[in-house]
Amino acid sequence: MTRCATSLVVVAALCAGGGSAVQPQPVRTAAVTQADKTVTIDGEDYPNPLRLHSGAAVTTAAEWENTRRAELLADFRENVYGQSLPAPTAQTFDVATTDFPAVTRKIITITVTGPEGTGSFDVKLFVPKTGAKPRGTFLMIDHRGEVGDDPDRSSGIAPVSTITEAGYAFAAFDAGEVAPDDSGSYRSAMIDLFHPADQELPADAGRAISAWSWGASRAMDYLQTDPDIDPTKVAVIGHSRSGKAALWAGAQDTRFAVAIPNNSGSTGTKLARRGDGGVGAETVARINGSFPHWFPQTYKAYNDRVDSLPVDQHELVALMAPRRVVVASATDDANADPEGEFLAYVAAAQVYELYGLGDTGLPSTSWRPPTDEGFRGPAMSYHLRSGGHGLTGADWDIYLNGDLFSR
Ligand code: GCU
Repeated sequence: MTRCATSLVVVAALCAGGGSAVQPQPVRTAAVTQADKTVTIDGEDYPNPLRLHSGAAVTTAAEWENTRRAELLADFRENVYGQSLPAPTAQTFDVATTDFPAVTRKIITITVTGPEGTGSFDVKLFVPKTGAKPRGTFLMIDHRGEVGDDPDRSSGIAPVSTITEAGYAFAAFDAGEVAPDDSGSYRSAMIDLFHPADQELPADAGRAISAWSWGASRAMDYLQTDPDIDPTKVAVIGHSRSGKAALWAGAQDTRFAVAIPNNSGSTGTKLARRGDGGVGAETVARINGSFPHWFPQTYKAYNDRVDSLPVDQHELVALMAPRRVVVASATDDANADPEGEFLAYVAAAQVYELYGLGDTGLPSTSWRPPTDEGFRGPAMSYHLRSGGHGLTGADWDIYLNGDLFSR
């Protein structure tokens, strides 16, 4: 066994398993320590992403990819987000293309068939006319109906022209067309193509957030067919509730090169076990009470016992490894617990370190980092914007200048 005197968690995690072909690099994650099946984050015990259910340590990228990823995905499906909708039994894309001076706009109607029927939703795609492939594509899950048909829109959550002028393509779909954000009707669009409408959903069936993630994968099915798009450079992005869905989409669907959960908070990048984080943040009980149609019944069983959850959200961030994860918080976004988001980001680095990619880019792993600055490691990016809950021009500046599609 390699000698390991250091308390750095990444090194400890790798050494505990008796050495590894992957040589741990010294990384700046001193805030976290490990003991057997748990890791310590900010003085508390959390599930260890690098332990199999059997208790054996995960010490190589191959063990992570072949075994541990599947365990974690199954745990998140069963206990947090619910089982995803299956792939459609049939799917078609109808594309209406319009030329603008600087941009080609395509409105793609994705028609999906499941065992209970057929339905459709639209994806809007704006491709800059640069004469070359876009530098990458941002695919937005848009729960606010913000993305219209206008390629000149330059402000708000979806500043289309700012993005295309920077050389990127921008795509979006209205989350409500996949699953209405409403406890009475959330099943009515895509979910009931796969579940009999007159029957209760199974207790572990995914609800709206899971369906939105599934919708992002259907949009990706299309993007893979579009000759204007490089499908190896697609970032799935969402703000807040859509940020939760974006991260879950990226965790499950490895076709996404990047996931950007912006201010995703509870059941996004915020650690569940922190409760209200001492700042009145949204707990598991609160999110399930306020938004009963977002998550399955099985998640509600943890309302008053989050410590029994078999997973926590640092493991969701880690499911992006070795692809890029971009965590973005805002200083005044207490409901989302920015510190809890930061700690999950830092704790995920130990999994990236299996690939030698554990550098978080942060100057220190202690809360709180400098604000309004993008920190970039080889596969992990982070920023803490000053101000309140939102996806603003300042966030987009950091994304567009963040070199997110390369190592
Ligand atoms: C509410 C909810 C959050 C969610 C947010 C949003 O504040 O509590 O979990 O992220 O809405 O989507 O804007």
